[in-house]
Amino acid sequence: MYAHREITDAKQVLDLVRYAHSIRNPEISGVGEYLASDLAEGRRLFGVTAADRLVACWLLHPFRMRLRRSLVSMGGIGLVGSRPDVRGQGSVRFLLEKSLETMREAGHAVSVLYPFSQSFYRKYGWELFTQSRRYELALGGIQIPDDGSTSLDAIELSYPDEASKAFYNAYAAEHYTFAQRGDPEWRKALHLWPDHIARGAVKIVDGETVVGLLGYTLYRRPDKEAATLNVHLFAHSSEEAKRAMLRYLKRQSHQNPTAELHVPMDEVLWPYLADSPTQHRIHDEAMIRVVDLECLDRLELDAPDTQLDVEVADPQAPWNAGVWSLRVRDGRLGVARGSKALLRCGIGALSSVLSGFASCGELIAARRIEALPGYDGADLPKVTTLLADGF
Ligand SMILES: CC(C)(COP(=O)(O)OP(=O)(O)OC[C@H]1O[C@@H](n2cnc3c(N)ncnc32)[C@H](O)[C@@H]1OP(=O)(O)O)[C@@H](O)C(=O)NCCC(=O)NCCS
Repeated sequence: MYAHREITDAKQVLDLVRYAHSIRNPEISGVGEYLASDLAEGRRLFGVTAADRLVACWLLHPFRMRLRRSLVSMGGIGLVGSRPDVRGQGSVRFLLEKSLETMREAGHAVSVLYPFSQSFYRKYGWELFTQSRRYELALGGIQIPDDGSTSLDAIELSYPDEASKAFYNAYAAEHYTFAQRGDPEWRKALHLWPDHIARGAVKIVDGETVVGLLGYTLYRRPDKEAATLNVHLFAHSSEEAKRAMLRYLKRQSHQNPTAELHVPMDEVLWPYLADSPTQHRIHDEAMIRVVDLECLDRLELDAPDTQLDVEVADPQAPWNAGVWSLRVRDGRLGVARGSKALLRCGIGALSSVLSGFASCGELIAARRIEALPGYDGADLPKVTTLLADGF
């Protein structure tokens, strides 16, 4: 009944996108231009049709993302939506199955998305894999030890220069589950939407050398008088660079008494604050799914030698189903077909464990992974995960 095809003209999906993503009329032409530039810059748009009528669509964002210690090909899924008159009739279930075939053909090892509902995507094999700390705090209350003769400077850039871009990619290759950024990714990260006043990066430099990068958005909601400073990237290569970033933020306090900071789960801020933040919450972010387990063969990871023998269920991507032997030897994962399983789970639970977000032990306790007779507690260490790109 349904067919899946690539769409090269962004205008074809605009009516569907307008309704499904509640885009106000003055903003729809900007969304159309944005989508057209997405396609020109290598993202790919797909549609589901029924009797030649477009009923659902999605957008594929190709990334090179750090997973454990390797850079892997990741397919980011965005813009999922269906026509209101076909809801509940299976077009998006079909779309997600086709997205897996499409991403596999494109060589993506894993897929990431930002869910409107975790339970919706969990059914199709995606599982939670990033969380961040979100603070709202008084910038005047930042307290930083006196660095005396620090030579670091903070320079605001509306668009990162070559040195800042190189710093970012070197940092992203070594930290969290960050993705590499070229100009298309930077343009997307700094695109000005109607609520935005300014977006950019602040580079922290030691002479010519970039040692830190802060990404910000200054925005104002139509119903608010005051603007809000949002810091969505807080990348530093040393304690001195971190202090320079905090010092820069403190100096913004006359214009912006409070700011929002989104930082990785392992970023420690409280010793630099005079008082508790107005708000401090943990925010669930992206979900991950292995697209093709075999693509993770030779993944580098910080883990002692071990072996997970897992029977995987994957109704949407049958090439992942069956018994696998996942062996870590000398910091590398070996992925091979196995014969006897000691663990049993869906692809989502395994995806979360492979990403480093969850451990087998946690998911066995929560009955998301079943331990079979003979399982001896083999596990992978957890790591802090975070992706800085939204899509
Ligand atoms: C979310 C959305 C994409 C679902 O589309 P849809 O056309 O209803 O999807 P499907 O018909 O393929 O249904 C997918 C699953 O959701 C279930 N479902 C659909 N509508 C539902 C509802 N209102 N309540 C509960 N479950 C529902 C279906 O039963 C199906 O589950 P199954 O595979 O177990 O049978 C659609 O509602 C939409 O476009 N929403 C606005 C945009 C949006 O939120 N996009 C997601 C961005 S991350």
